[in-house]
Amino acid sequence: MPEYDLQRVFAERIGGMQYGKSHALYKFEKIKRAKRAATLAHPGAEIIDLGVGEPDEMAFAEVVDKLCSEARLPSNRGYADNGDMVLKQAAARYLERVCGVSGIDPETEVVHSIGSKAALSILPAMLINPGEYVLMTTPGYPVFATHTKYYGGLVHNLPLTEENSFLPDLDSVPPSVLSRAKVLVLNYPNNPTGASATPEFFARTVVFAKQHNLVVIHDAAYAALVFEGKPLSFLATPGAKEVGLELHSASKTFNMTGWRCGFVAGNPLLVKAYGDVKDNSDSGQFLAIQHAAAHGFDHPEITEQIAAKYSRRMDRLAQVLAEAGFSARKPKGSFFLYTRAPKAAAGKPGQPARFANAEEVSQWLITEKLVSTVPWDDAGAYLRFSVTFVAKDREDEGRIFGELQKRLCSARFEFQAITGL
Ligand SMILES: Cc1ncc(COP(=O)(O)O)c(C=O)c1O
Repeated sequence: MPEYDLQRVFAERIGGMQYGKSHALYKFEKIKRAKRAATLAHPGAEIIDLGVGEPDEMAFAEVVDKLCSEARLPSNRGYADNGDMVLKQAAARYLERVCGVSGIDPETEVVHSIGSKAALSILPAMLINPGEYVLMTTPGYPVFATHTKYYGGLVHNLPLTEENSFLPDLDSVPPSVLSRAKVLVLNYPNNPTGASATPEFFARTVVFAKQHNLVVIHDAAYAALVFEGKPLSFLATPGAKEVGLELHSASKTFNMTGWRCGFVAGNPLLVKAYGDVKDNSDSGQFLAIQHAAAHGFDHPEITEQIAAKYSRRMDRLAQVLAEAGFSARKPKGSFFLYTRAPKAAAGKPGQPARFANAEEVSQWLITEKLVSTVPWDDAGAYLRFSVTFVAKDREDEGRIFGELQKRLCSARFEFQAITGL
């Protein structure tokens, strides 16, 4: 009998014979380890954690109450499959009231998701054949790209740069890629840049998609977290429903990240295909959770309160960062402030700290200043600061910003001269 070799079982897509042997550390693991080391080196000291990618607060009591009452109903107990009409109808109402998208048919143009991450992992199965491209913005949320590669597809990255207001340059895609491209994935307000799209950009996107026979997937995970004006939905663009889908999520919109619920809306044939693949992937989110999420979508004032808090914190964060030398600007939405990383800091006497990239800055900030951020080196060296840090109350929030200001200003950062802006 041949020797049993577990290493041979792993598919090439996750590393095959090399799976589990790499000691390379991923960005978020490096951050976690640096935080642990800093805590050990400075027992009892406070780490100011601006690296968090999710809300710091509980879901609102009214949503929790709705979950409790719905969880008691026998009619909600079973497999939900692709869902009942409650969330679908709330989604259609939400799109109309909050995003100004009229005429969404809840029956055929909405299906729920077990969060947008789950939807992004399902969608490539219905669109990507081996050798076909997805156009992704970078830096960005990588789930659609990962699954595209699992299916033998290819990824073309569109860099998001400050010069382009963090919108992709659609004209930069080479014809050889375009001829084999199937999908364009967008996300606005954007993680990590915090940038918002414009109606003009979305209109141009629809034209581009029609010209090149592309499907547009707009990941609107942060759509309602806006600090001025109304949320901008891709589906509000004339012609968008002919070419695309939009993903909404209760996670950031209603402080419900752990609950796992959202919806996919748009073109009925694309929604049907999503539902067909989803039906073969999961058995639906618990109906009580769907109904609680539906309550959220029917109460956009919840998100307005959450966004008001982030807006207040953003004003202060932008001010503190500017005082420390960053060219930080408050974004129009999301809870991320993305700003160019410094090239040097004061460091120890006789030993100025020089940085080759944002990752080095982020590690230095944790180790030397006990401030955690997320570095991005995909299109320039940038740091992402999140305003979802935990504070006991408003007074504590002010105290944390005061402490942050002291720590960052003591670093005496140096920045590269920015040219061409
Ligand atoms: C851009 C983006 N899309 C999707 C998600 C995942 O959202 P959900 O919790 O709905 O799966 C995140 C979470 O961080 C995100 O930043």
